[in-house]
Amino acid sequence: MSFFSGIPVAPPIEVFHRNKQYLDEKAPEKVNLTIGAYRTNEGVPMVLPVVKQAEIELANDSSLNHEYLPVLGHEGFRNAAMELVLGEDSPAIKEKRAFGIQCLSGTGSLRAGAEFLAGVVGLKTAYVSQPTWGNHKLVFKNAGFTAINTYTYWNAEKRCVNIDQLVDDLDNAPEKSVIILHGCAHNPTGMDPTQEQWKRIAQVIKKRNLFPFFDIAYQGFATGDPNADAWAVRYFVDQGLEMVVAQSFAKNFGLYNERVGNLTVVVNDKEVIPGFLSQMSLVIRANWSNPPAHGAQVVHLVLTNPDKRQQWMDSIKEMSGRIKTMREALRTKLEALGTPGTWNHITEQIGMFSFTGLTGAQVDHLIKAYKIFLLSDGRINICGLNTSNIDYVANAIDRTVRS
Ligand code: LMR
Repeated sequence: MSFFSGIPVAPPIEVFHRNKQYLDEKAPEKVNLTIGAYRTNEGVPMVLPVVKQAEIELANDSSLNHEYLPVLGHEGFRNAAMELVLGEDSPAIKEKRAFGIQCLSGTGSLRAGAEFLAGVVGLKTAYVSQPTWGNHKLVFKNAGFTAINTYTYWNAEKRCVNIDQLVDDLDNAPEKSVIILHGCAHNPTGMDPTQEQWKRIAQVIKKRNLFPFFDIAYQGFATGDPNADAWAVRYFVDQGLEMVVAQSFAKNFGLYNERVGNLTVVVNDKEVIPGFLSQMSLVIRANWSNPPAHGAQVVHLVLTNPDKRQQWMDSIKEMSGRIKTMREALRTKLEALGTPGTWNHITEQIGMFSFTGLTGAQVDHLIKAYKIFLLSDGRINICGLNTSNIDYVANAIDRTVRS
């Protein structure tokens, strides 16, 4: 007899499960296209040079210690993160109706925001895109949302955003529903709405009195320019919408395991801010009490020093540039092989991922026969491709599609 008898075994978390399968695989030709983490052309993780430099400076800074940060986090970091996403000239910042709250990477920012909306504001219905990142539903469910619905996002046949159905679904969502939007580089499809489409989305959100909750985990990875990648968020601010924005610095600073994130909040009336912050302090106090300092100090140092910020922008260009090169290489090779189907979507999609259109059976075959690991919905992390394995992967896809 145990308190824990009868606990059913939960299904594995696919992205980590597949990553482990890759790590455990002995075949030397194995390829990892699973988890959304950047790899160099040599297939190894990248510590951004400016991050390394900032870490050395921080290690030598005798004024720093390991005392607790405030519950809401490192103030300089919170401001720098908010400015990164809203833009330094943001009307919301000028009017002092925007603020940041340091959280644990993107997931912690989503969780704190969701728990606040459910527990303090009383919003209980959320909508995520279909398809979406594998963790969205779980976060919102555990945060207290009682209805988690989907809105149409993807037209699988044409491999594009199904904007008419998307707008229609939002038009039919109950008032005060929370709408989770991918700020850029939609995960898993790699296809973002155009500016005209974002305008329609903002319009219906405003008309139906819905609440936009942006998740922007890949700022800089869509176009190589962090400002361009924040266009949708900034447009929504210009439209006078209130919102929260979950930011992650895992990908764009390569700080995956430091759990650096920020929840940027935009409100219409700055009088509500003291109440908001005091209640959010309780949400965070009950979760992680106060956040870790190291990653936030690194991001703060880099974003607030013009030379370091430029070096960071250069690294973003390098990383996103390599992704683009690999997209082109994969498409070119598949087209040269005459692989059945069309492959233009590989270069039309943006960010780390490509939603290849490969079926579940084809994915299984690629794993079993070629030791190429990817997600069952056909999503590949383009960063796992490099000049040494691109021919192998293209040939494997070609043979798999023909078999
Ligand atoms: C991914 O989608 O692969 C990443 O965001 C990693 C994760 O936590 O799922």
